[in-house]
Amino acid sequence: MQFYMPFRLITGNNVVRSNGAALSAFGRRCLIVTGGSSAKTCGALDDVTAALSEQNIAYTVYDGIRQNPTMASCLAGGQIGADFCADFVVGVGGGSPLDAAKVIAVCIANPEAAEDALYRLEWANRPVPIVLVGTTAGTGSEVTSVAVITNSEGRKRSVRGNDLYAALSFGDPRYTATMPHAVTASTGVDALCHCAESFWSKPASDVSRALATEGIRLLVPALEQVASGITPDAQMRESLYSASILGGMAISVTGTCAPHTIGYLLSEQYGVPHGFACACFLTAFLRHSEAAAPEVASLFRAKTGMDIARIESLLQKLLPPYHFHLSDAELDALLPRWPLTVPNLAKTPGTCDSAVVKTFLRSVFAE
Ligand SMILES: [Fe+2]
Repeated sequence: MQFYMPFRLITGNNVVRSNGAALSAFGRRCLIVTGGSSAKTCGALDDVTAALSEQNIAYTVYDGIRQNPTMASCLAGGQIGADFCADFVVGVGGGSPLDAAKVIAVCIANPEAAEDALYRLEWANRPVPIVLVGTTAGTGSEVTSVAVITNSEGRKRSVRGNDLYAALSFGDPRYTATMPHAVTASTGVDALCHCAESFWSKPASDVSRALATEGIRLLVPALEQVASGITPDAQMRESLYSASILGGMAISVTGTCAPHTIGYLLSEQYGVPHGFACACFLTAFLRHSEAAAPEVASLFRAKTGMDIARIESLLQKLLPPYHFHLSDAELDALLPRWPLTVPNLAKTPGTCDSAVVKTFLRSVFAE
């Protein structure tokens, strides 16, 4: 078993304002990285700027991060941070701004870094310290060393390395209260995918499965309420946020499996939000995994108290009614995207070759 999680995480109500002094350890100048309006709407951005001001830390805001963040937007943010002589970054938002903040921290310390070098993890200087403030319940990016960034060819690619762990992450579930229903659902099923994929992942350990199990036990009843149209109360928001953190920790140990890498296709080419995109393939992945590793299936049922049919029924209620169509020949043409060497496929139970990938695709794409 290997376990390495070098970060400080503080969760609870009002944690940003009540722990503002912790920011002063990272320097006197800060680049805030955020997206559109949600970080402002939920109050997180105001809390961060107030905490920085109280510590007399100068800051500037880069709000150029959008869903499925591009490497170009990270390079631009890095330039702004370097010009500002930022000592550290604070990422505020959902998965996109948090992932981008990690890469921007690298770019600030390495202003000459180019796209290819960043994906190859080739940088000379350690990134400036990273502080993350999550505002959605799903990504788990607050506690992972991964950033998923879209390259100049429009493909989502991971930048992963121990340098990308945040020095400090804040989680205040109140920030998630302003999420629209569809975002609650999509980010929630992203967390469910993280927990389920991690549980079944070949490198799973007792520790990672304990994290994933608790995540699933929190998520399924909460998401069933979301699916039935109930507006989450504070307790449910806490459950969803805790599950998101547990899922992030679980995949920090194991990585994700096939649904994540195949799900990128739906985000890249059809604009499907990340969580829904991965969840489209989750049932087929679980059915395949159950057959390939029956001993893990028994463990999954025993530990989580869930069976695959319950998860499938939950997903049917939460996912929008997508209709994707590709012919058999068009699916075959896609398969070279996923060679067996893709880590997510190598970690999937059994052998996840082209024939298996095609069954996953066929579960989503009609003729
Ligand atoms: Fe994800």
